[in-house]
Amino acid sequence: MKNILFAASEGVPFIKTGGLADVVGSLPKCIDKKYYDVRVVIPKYTCIKQELRDKMEFKQSFYMDFHWRNVYVGILEAKVDGITYYFIDNEGYFNGMKPYCDDPLWEIEKYAFFCKALLSALPLIGFKPDLIHCHDWQTGLIPVYLHERFAGSDFYQNVKTVMTIHNLKFQGKWGVKDVKEITGLSDYYFAPDKLEAYKDANLLKGGIVYADAITTVSSTYAEEIKTMFYGEGLDGLLNARAGDLRGIVNGIDYEDFNPETDKKIAVKYNAINFRKEKVKNKLKLQEELGLEKDAGTMMIGIVSRLTDQKGLDLIAYIMDELCSSDKVQIVVLGTGEERYENMFRHFNWKYNDKVSANIYYSDDLSHKIYAACDAFLMPSLFEPCGLSQLMALRYGTVPIVRETGGLKDTVAPYNEYESTGTGFSFTNYNAHEMLRTIRYAEHIYYDKKREWNKIIDRGMAADFSWYTSAEKYQEMYMWLIG
Ligand code: GLC
Repeated sequence: MKNILFAASEGVPFIKTGGLADVVGSLPKCIDKKYYDVRVVIPKYTCIKQELRDKMEFKQSFYMDFHWRNVYVGILEAKVDGITYYFIDNEGYFNGMKPYCDDPLWEIEKYAFFCKALLSALPLIGFKPDLIHCHDWQTGLIPVYLHERFAGSDFYQNVKTVMTIHNLKFQGKWGVKDVKEITGLSDYYFAPDKLEAYKDANLLKGGIVYADAITTVSSTYAEEIKTMFYGEGLDGLLNARAGDLRGIVNGIDYEDFNPETDKKIAVKYNAINFRKEKVKNKLKLQEELGLEKDAGTMMIGIVSRLTDQKGLDLIAYIMDELCSSDKVQIVVLGTGEERYENMFRHFNWKYNDKVSANIYYSDDLSHKIYAACDAFLMPSLFEPCGLSQLMALRYGTVPIVRETGGLKDTVAPYNEYESTGTGFSFTNYNAHEMLRTIRYAEHIYYDKKREWNKIIDRGMAADFSWYTSAEKYQEMYMWLIG
């Protein structure tokens, strides 16, 4: 039996701002318990809901040298669904209404603390990992610290590391001088072949340089990030480490996302009876959101962080054209950049019976949208994996996506001559190419309903549970630690 520790800045059910939390919450459950004991460590944010904090049990505490001070580190533990979670506590660092804030320097200090604290805590909690699986820039210093100050101690000898990139856009960058002060790392580490990138210190780069293996969350994204367009300045390094880089597509939790048992949706259905039952969810949602009640109108869903990554400028560009001439309804759920929040509020006001903008996040409403909509729009500029299109497929909601990253790997474009495909897709980042694709989908929906339903048949039959992907992670673990 080998031990694996997942280190991340968020994880379901405790704290979630994006897909990373879903992965950290669901993947460990799917790794074979016969061979691997997988546990998870995340910060103990004060914004974690009280009912979840009540599950945590205090284990240990100590003081640690960090950033010229002696700081408190508390360790708590909780068990959910058979998985042990550890929490690193320090209210000075992990306070606030949200896990992240807008001050990059503070974020770097916070997560540098997290990395050093969790490594220092390991001997005290009685769990010696053979491998630490790090997720995103917030944990990038773990492989670096293991190589540096922890390398001298027996306990940390031979601990392997994996760095998983969920989104290369976020790297944890700041001026070398400050980062040197905070991390306590010597000049040696701030060279261009180590943590330094374009004169800044870069924590994700540190993780990529020092990890034993690197993964990202789809095969296409693994290729894309080796190019200049998607490489976010690290394409050179990723090419250099290409031999250790692999793409493993994410899965979703097939128990949480199951239209046959989902308590959050109005009417349950499955791959056999969706033709009759699914539409009842649409009627219910139209009523709930104040849209015109009509079973026959094609409803398009968008559940997304409202950021540049998600291709929302393409949507802004064609919304008037789409809403003024097409028979569609658009339902939006999510928060993010103010200009996109306001853009959807504006169209909600302008096309009140056609557009429903819900500018907040609600897990319940997201399930209702997956169940109610006919199509799901995701025209991302880049998309490491994307989970929403997988949820849409599971709920018989046909994805309309741009062919990038995980979207390209998980949505097979409809081919009317061969009667294949699970969704609709377009290649170029171009608003009218997207509109043409939406209109092609409308044509199949309105004029060839039998074909449309066969697309749903194929989408609901596709398997994006964790089963296959978890095996691929296990193969990698096996290769690294046996
Ligand atoms: C990030 C990516 C998204 C991916 C998720 C989980 O949020 O933007 O594409 O699905 O991480 O890996």
